[in-house]
Order: sequence, then structure tokens, then C-alpha cells
Amino acid sequence: MSIFGLPLSVTARAGTNIALVKYWGKRDATLNLPATGSLSLTLANFGSETTVRFAPDAESPDGGDRITLDGTPAPPPFAERVSRFLDLIRHDARVGLPAEVATHNSVPTAAGLASSAAGFAALALAAARAAGMNLAPSELSALARRGSGSAARSIFGGFVEMAAGTQRNGSDACAQELLPAGAWDVRLVVAIASDGPKAIASSEAMELTAKTSPYYAGWVQAVPQDLVAARAAVLAQDLAGLGRVAERSAMRMHACAMAADPPILYWNAATLAAMDTVRRLRSAGTQAFFTIDAGPHVKVLCATRDAVLVEPALAATPGVLRTLVLAPGPGAEVVREERR
Ligand code: DP6
Repeated sequence: MSIFGLPLSVTARAGTNIALVKYWGKRDATLNLPATGSLSLTLANFGSETTVRFAPDAESPDGGDRITLDGTPAPPPFAERVSRFLDLIRHDARVGLPAEVATHNSVPTAAGLASSAAGFAALALAAARAAGMNLAPSELSALARRGSGSAARSIFGGFVEMAAGTQRNGSDACAQELLPAGAWDVRLVVAIASDGPKAIASSEAMELTAKTSPYYAGWVQAVPQDLVAARAAVLAQDLAGLGRVAERSAMRMHACAMAADPPILYWNAATLAAMDTVRRLRSAGTQAFFTIDAGPHVKVLCATRDAVLVEPALAATPGVLRTLVLAPGPGAEVVREERR
């Protein structure tokens, strides 16, 4: 805000993250409180950079916030979601001004992996700072959660655990770092299994699963044990232990969604083929473990030295369009602040 006359323009960057213990279901949709905790890995060079400035001249011609995505006016659903999130900050910071928001995604074009996680983590940090709020990392994480549950985790780098929390207001439904990005030499190899948009958005799919899947209660009940096992494996840097939990968490999440009415199926033939490739790699002695989010792509966790085996095996898998090798990365950070 403008303590010295000119409004503060803040640019923040955040990497996306991939959950190894999945978040799938909410205990409160209004505050976006997760039904369970989750555990993830934040990735380097694969996320969002967002600049925010609250100012009277930021108003768009139609009277709202001026929001661009990769240099052009953002599509209405995206812009509305961003404006609703900014309203929370305007309310908390008592700022009655429109905002100018410019977001750039560094997710490779058409990777089919665009995620709200990095976007809302970068937006939460930039907008809170631009509005003059001085938030602790856990408060920033709880704020990012209001934009998207997975965004709460991208506030932190490396291996991160998100707590379901018990408070009604969601103040303890935030993430914390378990192991920093540089501490464990691992890679996530992504097998892109389609170029199309996802079958059904995760928020909607979670709601349908919670309402109609007979397996949902079992899913929610089983996650805490997975969290205990995954946390211990991360702290011990036990790849096989973590991989085992990651595969079972992904399979249970998808099984639960498949049992919804109507059923939710994110996989395609390439998804199954890539899962098979991972099992074959393991039989041949390579420690590689898959996870799958709300889409058909298969993400494979392995030691950095084994990525040279895992990546070509996935690239040669029938139906796999492309592969990416991603490294652990830092949490959300401010990259620029100026008064203009
Ligand atoms: C399958 O964080 O996108 O990637 O809170 O409704 O925005 P909202 O959901 P979102 O869901 C992520 C689902 C997931 C699993 C995960 O990242 O934990």
C-alpha cells in the first residue's frame, strides 16, 4: 500500500508441487479446509510469477481488477477466482482498492500440468505484501489455501506436510516444511499422457467423490497412517518407503474417485502403460515409484542418478507424448518490490 505516496508493486514466484500423500476432499468448502493432511514435493523452475499492485488506477474498464495471464487479459473464470481471492485480502487488510495482477506461468506450454498450486501461492505472497500485510509463513500458507488447497504447500520448498487442522476458522490448516529442497537428491520424471484438458476439475471431482463414493469414508480414515509413514520416510530419506506410500495413496484416491456416481476416471491407456513401465523398472532393480493427480499424467519419483534410466523408459512407453525431469525447488519468494 501507499505509505510513501506511491502504491507498492510486489512480484512473487512459487513452484508447483506434486502430492505424494494426496489431498482429496474438504471438511469445509467455504474456508477450503481439507478433510485430511497431505504431503508433497515442491518443484524448481516450474511454476508462476505474479505481480500485484493495489491502486485507484488499477481498475479495469468494466470496473473490476485488471488481471492478465501471460500478457493477455485473463479468461473470465480465472479472473473471477483471482478477484474473489483478492477480496479476502482486501477485507483482512482493509484495502478498498482495485488491483492490477499480472501472472506468468513457467509451466512448459501444453505440458498439461498447469496447476493452481503455484499460482495461488505466488498470488497470496505478492498480494499480501502489496496490501501491507506482514504474515508469518504459516499464515501465508493458510491464506494460499483459501485460493487452492494445494497452494498452501507451495509456500514452502522441498518436502512439505499440510495439516488438516482442527480449528473452525482454519488457522491451523496450513503447511510446514519437512525437508528442504537441497537435502535429498531426488527427481520427479513426468510422463505426459495427453494434451487435452482434464476430464473434471479437482474441486468439483472431490465434492462429487465426498457426496457419492461409498469408499470416501474409508479414504479419509486411511490417510493419517499414510502421513505417518510418509513423514518418517522423508525424514529418513527412505525412497522405497516413501514410494510405497505414494503409490498406495494415489491408487486409493483414484479408486475412491472411480467409485463416485457418475464415476470419475482420469486415466487413459498411456497412464496404465506408464504405471507398467514403472513396475518393470522396479523388477529390474531401479527404485522408481509413481503418483497420478487429477489427470492422466504419471509422475515418477526416483533418485537423481536413476533419472537417466527412468526418463527414456517412460519416453518409450506407448502413448506417452513427452517427458520432463523436475528437481525439488524452493518455497514462494518475493523477487521484486517497487513503488509505482
Ligand atoms: C489431485 O488443490 O486443486 O492434485 O483446493 O479445490 O483448489 P482445490 O483443489 P486442488 O486439489 C489438488 C488435488 C490433487 C492432489 C493434491 O495435490 O494433493
